[in-house]
Amino acid sequence: MSGGTIEAANTVSEYGKIEFEITSDCSIFTDVPKKSVSWMSHTDYVSKVGDGFEIVARTKNCPSAAMCDRRRRLYGVQFHPEVTHTEYGSKIIRNFLFEVCKCAGDWNMSDFASETIEKLRDRLAGKTVLLGLSGGVDSTVAAVLLHKAVGDRLTCVFVDNGMLRKNEGDIVERTLKERFDMSIVRANAGDRFLSALKGVVDPQEKRRIIGDVFIRVFEDVARPLGHINVFAQGTIYPDVIESGKGDADQIKVHHNKALPDVMDFDEVVEPLADLFKDEVRRVGLELGIPREIVCRQPFPGPGLGVRVIGEVTKDKLDKLREADAIFRKELENAGLDLLPSQYFAVLTDTLTVGVQGDARVYADVVALRAVDTDDFMTADFSRIPLDLLGRVSSRIMNEVKGLSRVVYDITSKPPATVEWE
Ligand code: XMP
Repeated sequence: MSGGTIEAANTVSEYGKIEFEITSDCSIFTDVPKKSVSWMSHTDYVSKVGDGFEIVARTKNCPSAAMCDRRRRLYGVQFHPEVTHTEYGSKIIRNFLFEVCKCAGDWNMSDFASETIEKLRDRLAGKTVLLGLSGGVDSTVAAVLLHKAVGDRLTCVFVDNGMLRKNEGDIVERTLKERFDMSIVRANAGDRFLSALKGVVDPQEKRRIIGDVFIRVFEDVARPLGHINVFAQGTIYPDVIESGKGDADQIKVHHNKALPDVMDFDEVVEPLADLFKDEVRRVGLELGIPREIVCRQPFPGPGLGVRVIGEVTKDKLDKLREADAIFRKELENAGLDLLPSQYFAVLTDTLTVGVQGDARVYADVVALRAVDTDDFMTADFSRIPLDLLGRVSSRIMNEVKGLSRVVYDITSKPPATVEWE
């Protein structure tokens, strides 16, 4: 221990884009301008650096935005160099990796796919594998990797939890069966999920229940298949981090990490657990998965269950599904240069007053959410043209029954998250 001190920044905690200034030369700041923008997200700060350390950067409110111990070659930053909003973040990481640690940088994605298939082939020799397919990018890429490794010993189970987007279940099933010739078992378990969720409003509890029912449905589908050795999932690295690792605060219970302790399988395999989303996409393209699947926007495992705020019911899900489909269709038809990284509707748990025809109504509020991000660890709300938002709003109000208004979420991550729950 070096003996530094950390204190709560009681008066000013820093969130978002903050200018920082380099105050001393330091290897990690080679070719980084003296002043640039960093992404901060902290409520504690280093009030006294440890023995041997010196402060090498500061911000207006944070006296120690970066520190280093030149002799022991130790470096620490308060901001987040890994997010795109830190202007020179990747330069700082490159400096650390290549100048300080002398890494070679000779790893590439094509090696990842072939090496992973090879490793899976060895590790899973003679074993039967069951994979949970959601139709999203992650589980699809995991499925294709595993299929290339174990062939017909892989069975994909597609659990339709009744909380998918409009027409999604059918599209997923058809695409994977026809294009990839995989053996897919579809379980239509919407009612089972809804009855387990009855009366539940707490978001973490909802996630836990959805994860739990998901596994139970799996087990029920797997039982008639005989003993299955391995349970495979498309978990990716952000799921691992955000589910809380070590002492990190738990942000959300991620659906695919909420595995119950007792399972009927011998082992769990997560071939993508070290990759970020953009890396998963690159592997997917390399494996020949069609672009429309690989570049599809992410969709959370618990599906619309965490986009219906509060208790989930069939009626609310149907309402949300319609509003969401309109929003997505209008955005996709608008000919924007770039679609937001993720865009969807949320059914809030708020009733407000409206006037429809000659009558006063007291009905639900739909929120539209659209974000731009590279890594989903941080995100900016999308600057969607107001005319387009207006068109979406009037279509939703005209075409979906039981709503009183449509609002647009203009919060970035942090301080909010992408999803509302
Ligand atoms: P948040 O809301 O944590 O979302 O800012 C970041 C990204 O993760 C997706 N997300 C999930 N994906 N299971 C998933 O597979 C989950 O439980 C889950 N929760 C959030 C979210 O849609 C966004 O892309």
